[in-house]
Amino acid sequence: MKIVTIIGARPQFIKAAAVSRAIAEHNAVIHDPRYTIHEIIVHTGQHFDANMSDIFFEEMQIPHPNYHLEINSMGHGAMTGRMLEKIEEVLLKEKPDYVMVYGDTNSTLAGTLAAKKLHIKVVHVEAGLRSFNMRMPEEINRILTDRISDILCCPTETAVKNLQNEGFRLPSNPQFTINDPQVVNTGDVMQDAALFYSSFSAAKSTIIRKLELEGKDFVLCTIHRAENTDDESRLRNIFEALLEVSNDLSVVLPLHPRTQKIIDTTLHDLRSTIHEKLKISPPVGYFDMIELLKHTKIVMTDSGGLQKEAYFFKKPCITLRDETEWVELVEAGVNQLVGSNRTNILKAISSVNPSVYFTENLYGNGQASVKILEHIISSY
Ligand code: UD1
Ligand code: UDP
Repeated sequence: MKIVTIIGARPQFIKAAAVSRAIAEHNAVIHDPRYTIHEIIVHTGQHFDANMSDIFFEEMQIPHPNYHLEINSMGHGAMTGRMLEKIEEVLLKEKPDYVMVYGDTNSTLAGTLAAKKLHIKVVHVEAGLRSFNMRMPEEINRILTDRISDILCCPTETAVKNLQNEGFRLPSNPQFTINDPQVVNTGDVMQDAALFYSSFSAAKSTIIRKLELEGKDFVLCTIHRAENTDDESRLRNIFEALLEVSNDLSVVLPLHPRTQKIIDTTLHDLRSTIHEKLKISPPVGYFDMIELLKHTKIVMTDSGGLQKEAYFFKKPCITLRDETEWVELVEAGVNQLVGSNRTNILKAISSVNPSVYFTENLYGNGQASVKILEHIISSY
């Protein structure tokens, strides 16, 4: 069986690392060679700095990409269009049984469209998530990807319900036929990755010492979503709040290149104060991120992945967005959705309950990658 995996952005490397490991483990034990999985990895090039891409392949031992398309730093139309064209060439050559796509980036949509126009089956990992905000590029990418995928691997029951509400039929529906797309709750592959790599991150990372955080309370923060970076007043409010928080607690902020560029241009008046008062670092690798998560007091973020990782490592999260796809975290009381309002951010920080209850298992049992492969094999 041949699977072409399309990845290009940081969170996709982390998700694909978990599934690639499961593929290697599957191949090591399989007796029937018809079920050996041959994975071809296509890196679109969307993320390209060494600390946004190469570091994850090295640290997480993701197989080296078979194709590197080097498409990045363009508007959405140009980026998606060029990826579509180049991925089609790869698919025509490789003729895979399945194309596997992850999440909701432009690389996800391009991979899905290229595959479906060649009648190749698409497996969407992290299907069914919705913010119900059509201004988000990610919402458009994920709705279109889900609509034409064949195997929709949902990380949560909420994601399954979202798809049912959009007309997807489950086998329990009397009108379900074998031609319907398969909607399955597999759990979240990011939990597989967090569980596996956290067992040796302490031996691999020196970040806590390097940033002089031993024994200190700190807030771990990331900001990169277009809805914050491309809106000056939102970004300014967020940074003003962070500067105020830094009077009492260290704020550690590994900066996405997108945010870095915008601080230098739009927020240039705050730039030197930001660098003086916050512990700014370039983007960090996954081992460093896990160690920061283990040691932090609070996570503040607009990242999708980090909201869940805060939960995996039992840390309260303050989400700098107006809505989240991970609604179960808000319902469980471990994630406060505050948007970009300075007062609300500060209120959330002061009302964080460090002994909040975390035991419920919301994202599966760390076996999502295995379940995904089982579904692919059973539909082969
Ligand atoms: C993309 C995804 C977003 C995801 C994020 C993960 C889309 C529409 N958005 O957003 O859903 O949360 O990745 O991090 O696909 N840049 C660099 N170096 C890099 C990567 C990016 O300088 O290694 C710069 C680009 O040149 C561009 C900006 O950052 O100017 C934005 O990059 P882009 O890939 O367009 O979107 P992200 O904001 O990274
Ligand atoms: N991450 C990382 N280093 C960083 C910032 C994030 O390793 O400096 C990891 C983070 O732990 C998570 C993933 O990147 O696993 C999330 O990606 P990102 O926030 O870029 O995208 P999103 O999840 O919002 O799409």
